[in-house]
Amino acid sequence: MAHQLLKGKRGIIFGALDENSIAWKTALRVKEEGAYFTLTNAPIALRMGKINELAKACDAQVIPADATSEQELHHLFTKSIEILGGKLDFVLHSIGMSPNVRKDKSYGDLNYDWFLKTLDISGVSFHKVLQTAEKTDAMNEWGSVVALSYIAAQRTFPDYSDMAQAKSVLESIARSYGYRFAKLKKVRVNTISQSPTKTTAGAGISGFDVFYDYAQMMSPLGNASAEDCANYIVLMFSDYTRMVTMQNLMHDGGFSSTGITEDLIERLTKP
Ligand SMILES: NC(=O)c1ccc[n+]([C@@H]2O[C@H](COP(=O)([O-])OP(=O)(O)OC[C@H]3O[C@@H](n4cnc5c(N)ncnc54)[C@H](O)[C@@H]3O)[C@@H](O)[C@H]2O)c1
Repeated sequence: MAHQLLKGKRGIIFGALDENSIAWKTALRVKEEGAYFTLTNAPIALRMGKINELAKACDAQVIPADATSEQELHHLFTKSIEILGGKLDFVLHSIGMSPNVRKDKSYGDLNYDWFLKTLDISGVSFHKVLQTAEKTDAMNEWGSVVALSYIAAQRTFPDYSDMAQAKSVLESIARSYGYRFAKLKKVRVNTISQSPTKTTAGAGISGFDVFYDYAQMMSPLGNASAEDCANYIVLMFSDYTRMVTMQNLMHDGGFSSTGITEDLIERLTKP
């Protein structure tokens, strides 16, 4: 299904850990559409994950960067421009982690150092990425920056815990920085709010399978897969969405606009 929608564009893709990652699928699709990019992840994820396989398949270089470190982000952006031979047209922020979720802390017993870590890694890092892109003058005019969010930013999903606050921060940053970057360089900044997806981050939420099945039943089109998400990101990086900015874009098969479905009624009325 390749149409060379991103022919000659350059970018950075954060967050490909393994073949299930949304960023992994996106890298493969973006490559198919004719773009060049560098891949990045936190140093520890590079040691544990399989990013080198992806790098080989995409003919891309890997540059380690912890997305909470301004210094490492500065190195990533300047090095990417050098490797790719010019400024960037797109950036994907596909990063999320909560130590409280990972260690199964209840929402009434959060560790606040970990809470701040959740906010830093999963929310504030998006500001750091955007601010670094501005300070290094890394973006071309009409560039596109996308981060991935989840509907727990607007509605409560108990097991999502402090990640809900991080996603609210993330979406708010897309609006505030989206305004600034549009004025400065016509760069657009959006979040995509994705269906539950079977990845390492997804499976880290307790009760994920029930979560996933419930969303599947509540979405008239069903859950959007990681591949569907990759296609949407390609569109958001393309010139067909030049006037879309400061939005949280629902990519959820209709879940967010649905009150109840026949599937769920049937399930709940079963004896
Ligand atoms: N899986 C889902 O159900 C789902 C639903 C909606 C949104 N999302 C979001 O999609 C994004 C990608 O997650 P995924 O589902 O592909 O899972 P994933 O586990 O494959 O990706 C998460 C990535 O974040 C990276 N990361 C963690 N800490 C980092 C740091 N300090 N610096 C740089 N990178 C760091 C990890 O190494 C990993 O590559 C996340 O923002 C996640 O919240 C996921």
